[in-house]
Parts: sequence; structure tokens; C-alpha cells
Amino acid sequence: MTRWCAGQKRPPAFTRLLRLLRLLRLLRLLRRTSPEVCDGEDKNKIRLPVLKRPINALLPFRSAVPVTNLLINIDHVATLRNARQEAVPDPVAAAARCEQAGADGIVFHLREDRRHITERDVRLLAETVRGKLDFELSTEAEVVSICCDVSPDLATLVPERREEVTTEGGLDVVANRARLAEVVPRLYDADVEQVSLFVDPVPAQIEAAAESGANCVELHTGDFAEADTDAARREEAHRLAAGAEAAHEAGLRVHAGHGLDYNNFPLFQDTVPHVAEVSIGFAVMARAMLVGMSPAVRDMCATVKGRRA
Ligand code: PXP
Repeated sequence: MTRWCAGQKRPPAFTRLLRLLRLLRLLRLLRRTSPEVCDGEDKNKIRLPVLKRPINALLPFRSAVPVTNLLINIDHVATLRNARQEAVPDPVAAAARCEQAGADGIVFHLREDRRHITERDVRLLAETVRGKLDFELSTEAEVVSICCDVSPDLATLVPERREEVTTEGGLDVVANRARLAEVVPRLYDADVEQVSLFVDPVPAQIEAAAESGANCVELHTGDFAEADTDAARREEAHRLAAGAEAAHEAGLRVHAGHGLDYNNFPLFQDTVPHVAEVSIGFAVMARAMLVGMSPAVRDMCATVKGRRA
């Protein structure tokens, strides 16, 4: 039998066999299914009908795959600073650290009672944040004026009650139609390109959000995050999925946030389609207290983006 050595031309039969083996290996790889990924309805995942597996992982360039943006909420840094009426920790410095560690942008909420973020923070954040800046606000006149002055990339309108510890639920867009009809166009006039309404995944609210002229919704993920059984969490994830589908159909860009963390994010991502952006604060800041801001942000980036790679 003739032996084939390196450098020699391969006999055609051998080459054909090699090619066949390579093809068989590729087919085996493609057919390896991943049920938790396949169960989701994510239209972002391009599927080949016979392969039963999102092709995303096989695409050579990551840029071809829609990736969820991660915006970090830095309000809790300001809460800690204000607790001792000190100058540190500075939320502006924290924002820079978050961006250096890979966050796509920064979120803050200027509350009517200024309990955490102050006007000084807003002005400095507007000057220093290099990525996307998301200004969360109520429809209160003075806060709307400040938002118009700094003209962030995104303004997210949220409900606000002074006695709440954090935002407790979505905005009642239906009940606030009249006020939103004034505020939404005002924000666009101030060159805010994206105006988002923070809503529960309720069809009537999403429909009203689309009618308000806003071009985004942020789906409230609090009920999903707080669900105390796996079954309840899955049910909430499916409600969010239906909400995201409805918002997308209505032409709205879909954002999400509240209570998302390192553990619950994978189920959220596998179930809820069309999510362009998430806003996450508490989980990252809580981890940052123990391991430092940069590792905490990097871990969240890996959680949000890593599984899309
Ligand atoms: N989105 C909105 C509208 C919020 O009010 C908050 C809380 O400040 C978040 C997202 C972030 O929530 P969490 O701090 O639980 O991650």
C-alpha cells in the first residue's frame, strides 16, 4: 500500500474521504440542539429549519447578530454618597468606571425629591458619559425642563411616588395620555432622539405607548424578578415575551429593566424577543460592594452579551 507523506500531493480518494469526514463533523455539530435556547420565540435568532438550532453561534462575525445593549444605573452610588452627605462615592466617577469596564451607557433617575442624583450630577454626567445616556424622569415640569436642557440620548418616563423605595411599577400611560401628549413632543423638540415609556407588559399600555408618539418602551421586569417560584417566573417571562412582541409589532424599540440580575437574566434573554437594551442597577452595585465596580460590570456584560457570542 502506498503511504502518503506530508508535502506530497494527496491522492484524490483520500481527499474525498477527508472532506466527507469534515462534512459529517459539521453536520453533527449543527444538529446538537439546545432546548432552552430553542424554546424561546426570539426572532433575533436566525434558524435553519432542518438544523433546529439558532445559527447565530455559527456566524463568523458577531456584528451580524443583534446584541443587547447594557446600560448601568448608577443611582445607588449617589444614595450611598448622600447617606453621609459626603462628596464620595461620586456617581460621575462610578459612571466612568462602568463605561471603562464595558457598559454601553449610563442610566440615572433625577427624582423630584433629589434623594440620590442631584442636578450637579446630571450636568457632569451629560458632559462626561461617552456612551448612551438615559435620563429617567417623571412628567413633573421642572425635571422635564432639566432633561430638555441636557438633551440626553434617551429619556425614559417613569411613574414616581415620594413614599416608594424604588420605582414600583409601570407608568399608567392610558391614564396619563394628556400629560404625555405634552411631554413627549417637548422632549423630541429638545433633540432627545429616543423617548421611552416604562410600562408593564399589558397590551392596553403598550398600545397607548405607541399612540403617545414615544419611539421606545421599557418593559417593567419587576414581577419577573420577584416571582418566588420557577413556574411563576416562567409565566412572567412569557408575559414579557408577549409584551415585547406587541411593542415590536407596533414599531417600538424594546428596552427592559428592574430587578434583572446575574441569575435571572438567562431565562429572560431566552424567552423575551426583540430586547435591544437593558437597564440594570442594583444587582451590579450590590456585587460591586464586594468585588469592585469593574469586575461587577464585566460580569454583567458577560451575562448579557456573552451568551450571544
Ligand atoms: N429601569 C427603571 C425604569 C428603573 O426605575 C430602575 C430602578 O431604578 C431600573 C430599570 C433598574 O432596576 P434595578 O436597580 O433593580 O436593576
